Amino acid sequence: MSSTFEDLIPVVNKLQDLVFNTIGSDTIDLPQVIVVGSQSCGKSSVLENLVGKDFLPRGTGIVTRRPLILQLINIPYTRSPSPPIPTPFDSEVGAAANTSRATAVRQEEWAEFLHVPGRKYYDFTEVRREIENDTVRIAGNNKGINKTPINLKIFSPHVLNLTLVDLPGLTKIPIGDQPTDIEKQTRGLIAEYIMKPNSIILAVSPANVDLVNSESLKLARQVDPQGRRTIGVLTKLDLMDHGTNAIDILSGRVYPLKLGFIGVVNRSQQDIQVNKSLQESLQAEQDFFRSHPAYRNISYRCGTQYLAKSLNNTLMTHIREKLPDIKARLNTLMGQTQQELASYGEPQVTGSGHNGVLILQLMTKFATSFIASIDGTSS
Ligand code: GDP
Ligand code: NA
Ligand code: MG
Repeated sequence: MSSTFEDLIPVVNKLQDLVFNTIGSDTIDLPQVIVVGSQSCGKSSVLENLVGKDFLPRGTGIVTRRPLILQLINIPYTRSPSPPIPTPFDSEVGAAANTSRATAVRQEEWAEFLHVPGRKYYDFTEVRREIENDTVRIAGNNKGINKTPINLKIFSPHVLNLTLVDLPGLTKIPIGDQPTDIEKQTRGLIAEYIMKPNSIILAVSPANVDLVNSESLKLARQVDPQGRRTIGVLTKLDLMDHGTNAIDILSGRVYPLKLGFIGVVNRSQQDIQVNKSLQESLQAEQDFFRSHPAYRNISYRCGTQYLAKSLNNTLMTHIREKLPDIKARLNTLMGQTQQELASYGEPQVTGSGHNGVLILQLMTKFATSFIASIDGTSS
């Protein structure tokens, strides 16, 4: 699984560990990434590309009908079990070795649903099936939407501890079991998630529809009028009319967003039908931008990989913003530790009772210097 957040994983993990081990409070909370936009604009596709795994139901019409809260959880690599020692009478050695290798690979990453306690999903096709089944169970099978979220966790050594939210798209005209106020309901549902100041909004708009009509941008503007935590994502660049392009939007000349607009090309319905792999589609996307006469010169800032990079930067900025507070808390802790130490008198080399304090002091020092190193300042 290729992960787009791989660079941030060690920094965040280390920071989370040391905040947990020193201050003892809960770990730094990263912003949630919320994907919003009109129906079928490509939200689920974008999210899936970012995670680097095929596991979400996608398609034309209303597919995502409940919020999906996807929690990525970083776990250490599991050591693969040592291969069985071959014996002269064991004709099954090859098969056994294969099995143990397969087990090692299988255990590396898995998914769990809150509503299916105790079950680990190693096959991500089954994850998709379960999302579909549980959507029908709660929201019926006639296009209704329901605000009860599906909670899914993905455990992997390749992911950043991060929460991403996929939401039903905005629709105007009720179909199937949808209530007459479907638009109002979905708006309310989306607003609940993007209102949180600690969320990053991926405002998705399809390039083949006029940006003036973009529902995602209208919604994002309501909760983030300055456009500080909204990243514009322009999908379906491959579906624009011949002779037209989105260069003005991508260059920020049409709609102001501090974090800018990034163009992507996701898998088409045809690609989904023929099971085009994620890898292939990322390559095709890159080829598209590099060879397109309008985008050739800006291809370095187009595509899924660049979107991931921008998201990484935004997360890193957020982490940096939290550092002064963490530092202040660490300093207080250091002061307390020193006072405590002083009250014990001179530390005794053999005294076991003081070790905890000393370790804490060392850890706090380490924490402060580590923070200074990512903060870019020295303290
Ligand atoms: P959502 O409803 O916003 O979650 O959209 P989906 O991710 O389910 O995609 C809706 C449909 O649009 C699917 O058939 C996708 O294959 C297709 N699609 C999404 N993004 C693109 C794109 O960039 N290019 C093309 N050609 N099709 C896309
Ligand atoms: Na859709
Ligand atoms: Mg969707």
